[in-house]
Amino acid sequence: MYVGYMRNVRKPTKFTKLLAKTTKYHGIDLAFFHPEDIDLNQKTIKAKILVNNKWVQKEIAVPLFVDVTTYSFRYKKQIRFLHRYSYFTAGKSIAKHKFQEKIRDDGEFADLLIPTVTHSNFNSLFKFLKEHKHIVAKPNKGQKGEGIYKVSKNKNKYFLSYKEDEKQITKRKLKRFSKEVLNQKSYVYQKYIDSTTISGDPFDCRIRLEKDGKGEWEVVKYLMRIGTGQKVVSNVVQGGSVSEMTPFLKYNYASNWKSIKESLIKLGNTFPYKIEEVCQQNLSSLGIDIGIDKAANLYLFEVNHAPGTEFGEGAIATVKSDYYKYMLDKLS
Ligand SMILES: Nc1ncnc2c1ncn2[C@@H]1O[C@H](COP(=O)(O)OP(=O)(O)O)[C@@H](O)[C@H]1O
Ligand SMILES: [Mg+2]
Repeated sequence: MYVGYMRNVRKPTKFTKLLAKTTKYHGIDLAFFHPEDIDLNQKTIKAKILVNNKWVQKEIAVPLFVDVTTYSFRYKKQIRFLHRYSYFTAGKSIAKHKFQEKIRDDGEFADLLIPTVTHSNFNSLFKFLKEHKHIVAKPNKGQKGEGIYKVSKNKNKYFLSYKEDEKQITKRKLKRFSKEVLNQKSYVYQKYIDSTTISGDPFDCRIRLEKDGKGEWEVVKYLMRIGTGQKVVSNVVQGGSVSEMTPFLKYNYASNWKSIKESLIKLGNTFPYKIEEVCQQNLSSLGIDIGIDKAANLYLFEVNHAPGTEFGEGAIATVKSDYYKYMLDKLS
């Protein structure tokens, strides 16, 4: 039996190799392929299978189930093909602002939302800044913490932070920033959430989930991500580090770490089902990024439909292979 593993890279990664080994426990062979390895006419796939610890190319029929990520949705023909001849659990990514609206309309998790508006011009920026004093401007379809700025207003002084720097700027410079940066692509602003460590570094909690052997959501990891030396973002690729949840909370929230931990666990057990419901998608992987302010309130920074596997490879591979077994049993 094969399970397909489609990714937009040409070569299987180390994680793919680990996953192929864990799926083998269930007697399943992982068939790695790129969307362009699908022969749409012959209805076959040029896949790579792990044999004796080496990747071997083999032409196979379309597997019953394929693990697909949201990144592959730009290969429209191939996605339509898999829709028709196979089964997969993944969905198109949804712009940050649109997703927020869905959660707001639903209501149950609306208190996680950060006040957000879409950028239109300097006046809208100025009005939002006047109201909230500290705000963040981020691309509506951003990734990996790129292009995220913090803007602050203190009486008639303005401050702009980006990556490791913070500088004071004039109102005229702020106007220019609005025109030269924010007007260039679709930006939103949000109230700034002071999710920072005792030493002042921004952090968030990534709740990393996978569907398990019962087809239910399982938290594989609560990971604290710290943007060491960063002014705005906690994305580790921008420079940073990670920590386990409990020791991190004990140190940074000495008086109320227990209740924060309980809230995060409760969120991990309930929110993924709501995400599937409001997006009307069947998913199997999620990364939910939560900020925690000084008063211990939780806020939603972002939901990632194709989160990485770093810092949890072993657990992720185990849960994924149990899920593949569950799906094959269900589909066959
Ligand atoms: N409203 C906000 N207040 C404070 N920090 C924020 C806010 N929005 C984003 N951040 C920081 O920036 C990081 C990246 O933001 P995110 O929306 O996840 O963009 P990306 O898709 O680029 O990862 C977050 O993990 C968080 O550390
Ligand atoms: Mg993010």
